[in-house]
Amino acid sequence: MALLTVRDLSVEFPASGAAVRAVRRVSLSVQDGEVVGLVGESGSGKTAAMMAIPGLLPSAAHVAGSVRFAGRELLGAREQELRRIRGARIGVVFQDPLSALNPTMPVGRQVAEVVVHHLHLGWREARERAVELLASVDLPDPGRRAAEYPHQWSGGMRQRALIAMALAARPSLLIADEPTSALDARVATEVAELLLRLQSELGMAVLLASHDLGLIARLADRVLVMYGGQIVESGGCADVLLGRAHPYTSALMGAVPGGGAPGTALSAIPGEPPDASRRDAGCAFAARCPHVMYGCLRAAPPPYPVPGKIGHVACCWRYHPDAPSADGGAHGRT
Ligand SMILES: Nc1ncnc2c1ncn2[C@@H]1O[C@H](COP(=O)(O)OP(=O)(O)OP(=O)(O)O)[C@@H](O)[C@H]1O
Ligand code: SF4
Ligand SMILES: [Mg+2]
Repeated sequence: MALLTVRDLSVEFPASGAAVRAVRRVSLSVQDGEVVGLVGESGSGKTAAMMAIPGLLPSAAHVAGSVRFAGRELLGAREQELRRIRGARIGVVFQDPLSALNPTMPVGRQVAEVVVHHLHLGWREARERAVELLASVDLPDPGRRAAEYPHQWSGGMRQRALIAMALAARPSLLIADEPTSALDARVATEVAELLLRLQSELGMAVLLASHDLGLIARLADRVLVMYGGQIVESGGCADVLLGRAHPYTSALMGAVPGGGAPGTALSAIPGEPPDASRRDAGCAFAARCPHVMYGCLRAAPPPYPVPGKIGHVACCWRYHPDAPSADGGAHGRT
């Protein structure tokens, strides 16, 4: 059984006009110890999907579907239970470490609070453990620096502290939402190295969203590609990043010189991302797709196996023998 199984997850944010449909019937699974990368341009729904899993979306968001973690349904679970699972079983690292830390409390104390809460140690032991945890994320001079406040630390140090807090209780799943994108290139590479080391030492599963293809390529076993709130391609890391079966994945990776090197970012794609309140019938990528066919405007393409690749699936009519055609028959592949 998978550690995490998400089925038909939908997230809607109420808006003054039509609701923003940020996540649209997303299904995914993460096995024990597996690293799953999530890529997609800005606004594709990565954060909304990842934060829905541990129940961290604002209460105004409408979340539907199923999120089973270690055999337990998390959607609809009581906040008290979710709080216990977060931190103890599921660690979360956010993009912006400054806003995730309390500015009025020394960082070491914040790490110690997590230790007290999740490991049930006394304060004295928790303070010692906090310093050990900060050392384990390669924070220089952790004993002295633990007494400092977040604003006295660099962005990279703050992100290390958040990683230490997320991993304090040795969770079996780490959800990391763009953990390096607020950092400059050198520090981002160091934090990426740290994540790589911790993942292999602790053997935890990771769900990782990033614009950094190098980070995804080095860390991920499998990659999911999101577009307009849906997963449009999924498969083994090399199959997806190098095979680029879906035209959107191709466009995301295409114009990147040296794609996959550390710090390599996703490409900007000509045209606008889809309107998040849309309800049109066809493929969401049709307006920007160089391979658009008649049937693409008629019906949304269902997931279909990419020929010759085990576990590689793309939602694109190009791979589907039953693509709708102008004469009502099936469309051939272009
Ligand atoms: N709290 C919110 N209220 C209303 N709309 C929201 C909220 N959070 C996200 N959205 C909308 O949901 C959609 C998906 O946003 P999300 O932040 O999940 O994208 P993302 O893929 O994480 O983007 P990025 O790469 O920029 O982090 C966007 O249209 C966004 O404007
Ligand atoms: S279904 Fe059609 S429009 Fe959509 S990505 Fe495939 S070829 Fe392009
Ligand atoms: Mg995001």
